[in-house]
Amino acid sequence: MPSAQGGEFFALTNLKASFTILSRMEQLVHLARNIDPMRVFGRVAVVNGLLIEAKGGLSYMQVGARCEIIRRHEAPLPVEVVGFREDRALMMPFGPVEGITPGAEIRISSEGAKVHPTTAWLGRIIDSFGEPIDGFGPLPQGPEGYLLKASPPSAHSRQKVGERLNLGVRAMDVFTTCCRGQRLGVFAGSGVGKSVLLSMLAREATCDAVVVGLIGERGREVREFVEETLGPEGLRRAIVVVATSDEPALKRRQAAYMTLALSEYLRDQGLEVLCLMDSVTRFAMAQREIGLATGEPPTTKGYTPTCFAELPKLLERAGPGPILPDGTRTGPITGLFTVLVDGDDHNEPIADAVRGILDGHIVMSRGIAERGRFPAIDVLKSISRTMPDCQTIPEREIVRQARKVLSSYTNMEELIRIGAYRQGADPDVDRAIILNPAVEDFLRQGKDEYTPLDESFTLLGQILSQS
Ligand SMILES: Nc1ncnc2c1ncn2[C@@H]1O[C@H](COP(=O)(O)OP(=O)(O)OP(=O)(O)O)[C@@H](O)[C@H]1O
Ligand SMILES: [Mg+2]
Repeated sequence: MPSAQGGEFFALTNLKASFTILSRMEQLVHLARNIDPMRVFGRVAVVNGLLIEAKGGLSYMQVGARCEIIRRHEAPLPVEVVGFREDRALMMPFGPVEGITPGAEIRISSEGAKVHPTTAWLGRIIDSFGEPIDGFGPLPQGPEGYLLKASPPSAHSRQKVGERLNLGVRAMDVFTTCCRGQRLGVFAGSGVGKSVLLSMLAREATCDAVVVGLIGERGREVREFVEETLGPEGLRRAIVVVATSDEPALKRRQAAYMTLALSEYLRDQGLEVLCLMDSVTRFAMAQREIGLATGEPPTTKGYTPTCFAELPKLLERAGPGPILPDGTRTGPITGLFTVLVDGDDHNEPIADAVRGILDGHIVMSRGIAERGRFPAIDVLKSISRTMPDCQTIPEREIVRQARKVLSSYTNMEELIRIGAYRQGADPDVDRAIILNPAVEDFLRQGKDEYTPLDESFTLLGQILSQS
């Protein structure tokens, strides 16, 4: 029948047309994927120290955009747009500015910087661009890009802080118990033991993956940290991001962003992540360098306003995982961030700002370190804001009694030492004098020693029941 045949004919042509459209679309998608994102051009106008001024292509630029400056005899220099002044874009380099010529071409990328990690990155050491620096060959690239400078998850999408986490360090497990998804600061002057404490946590804490950001550290320490303190066992479940103190400010700052971006990727795989950063102060210092170069006004200790604006944006990215729109629960990022307190002044501006953002602080004291008690945690000055809810009633009693012993002893220490205290004058002090050496021994822990959380409470309970 003619009408039926005609119908079949039209159905066939429609099908053919749909196939053609589909294959065209596929071609377009393929083309779009392969478009070089670095295309639009600007030109170098002025190089002033580490600040590069560019003209042209401004409508394609935004603060944070990634560009490349073409050099005659060297590889293109990656730079980032850090601000604008009149009709010029201000840029800072990710490397030495040698080889830039007047009018040099600048290729502008329209994308924010991204990293494409996979779980095969665990066990590897990378730089702030996600390039391996451990000599074990190239890293596989994952299908999804994670923005280095992502925003923290919104407050309402976040889960609550989880169960308590076994850190393996007695002083912390008992006196500043940490929960899954909590963020703690470790505050100490230089050489008091921050890095060693972090390496103990990287090795022993109960979690699925660890991301360690070594920001602005000495080059010598990186090797020491990876080979000696972390060891092959610890490295197997860790990704280490490194930007040493000699690297440009942008690279040091980006290493901190990279640390959080990798933590976010691992979190989205449903893993429980421990994010360790040594140190947040060096991140703030890098931000200060960038701010001052772009003409921001210095405020306290030369830190510019953006330093204080960037800190919460960075630190808030750690925390309990968000519930994704499809209902998937992501894993938590428990964050431990060290803060170098300049001149042992715990009220210096960065320490103050970080203390206000995080859910607790661990204070390390030079006096305790000088006495030879490591980790030099001053438990009376340290707090965890999830306590005491995460402890049982008998555990709270143990903590209360131990704090009383330590504070009674500390208050009377001078008198006891010079023999001016008379036994019997105060029953609390009498008890503290008997128990203090054992409590101090409990707090002393070697670099390679490990005690599970429950055992720590039992141990301290036994010490306190001695009198
Ligand atoms: N648990 C420990 N047991 C024994 N010694 C320790 C312990 N923790 C720290 N130390 C000693 O303290 C020294 C300094 O520690 P560390 O490098 O961690 O300090 P830091 O606070 O990171 O210093 P900086 O601010 O210079 O980076 C170590 O070299 C080591 O001798
Ligand atoms: Mg250190």
